[in-house]
Amino acid sequence: MTSPRVFVTRRLPGDAVERLRATAEVDLWEGDLPPPHDALVARTSGADGLICLLTDTVDAALLAASLRLRVISNVAVGYDNIDVAAATARGIPVGNTPGVLTETTADLAFALILAAARRIVEAERFVRDGRWRTWDPNLLLGYDAHGATIGIVGMGKIGRAVARRAEGFGMRIIYASRAPADVPYERVPLDELLARADVVTLHVPLTAETRHMIDAATLARMKRTAVLVNTARGPVVDQAALARALEEGRIAAAGVDVTEVEPIPPDDPLLRAPNVVILPHIGSASHATRERMAAMAVDNCLAGLRGERLPNCVNPEVYDTAAAREI
Ligand code: DGY
Repeated sequence: MTSPRVFVTRRLPGDAVERLRATAEVDLWEGDLPPPHDALVARTSGADGLICLLTDTVDAALLAASLRLRVISNVAVGYDNIDVAAATARGIPVGNTPGVLTETTADLAFALILAAARRIVEAERFVRDGRWRTWDPNLLLGYDAHGATIGIVGMGKIGRAVARRAEGFGMRIIYASRAPADVPYERVPLDELLARADVVTLHVPLTAETRHMIDAATLARMKRTAVLVNTARGPVVDQAALARALEEGRIAAAGVDVTEVEPIPPDDPLLRAPNVVILPHIGSASHATRERMAAMAVDNCLAGLRGERLPNCVNPEVYDTAAAREI
């Protein structure tokens, strides 16, 4: 019997890919940059399984060309890079990696809250630039995190993990979400959250509903002293509007781990805006978490190849639809 073939679109941390090799013939993309879309299509078209990243666009055209494909496994909790409806229509289960990156991402959200509110990056640059001449009572004043009101948008796993950290900082916690969550915090409409929060932190997936949820109008509802943090997905924020709001001092600061286009283009106005900390999408980037994500992605892939339910499947309806193929 021939081994199934799996296209893995990047080298992954840990030994997960080695484990996969015991069962499958692994076609590993060795580049440091993602495969261009035509290479992604070409290499996936002969594969039974695909292990991909949020940088790989898995669209209807790719699926149409990949008639052998039995499982798609994303090494991320988010899956907005995949046309899940098209995969479902073809009976292909899609896996993701929820849970394992919750605490690591919440840590980074908090790092951004503190960095933006207390001007940490700006202060560090100030020292390195040789501009530190004396202790100055007016130097680099920022805003306190302790005792502030934090507005958490999206009360899923990561939102809750951020809330736990906020409790430790003695923050007042309010949240906005589509449905009430089983948490002891006050749920308020988004507009009210924006008006009351000193820190607004975003923890929603990217969907048609959340795209540009933070735009010029919603930014205008925030306090002039408020800090906005985005560790979710770049397009949740209208980045041009955010750059203008920072430029015009309509909010105090921002910390973003994600941008509308990644990497952020060198001429993007946000790079010139004051009081913004911009990171290269490293929310889940700890050794342990990235190894766990790779392991989960391989587990999903192996289950799909065996014709079993994926341990973490974003389209479980695939198992019920008539379109589901014999796998
Ligand atoms: C995800 O998993 O969706 C993050 O953005 C990357 O870890």
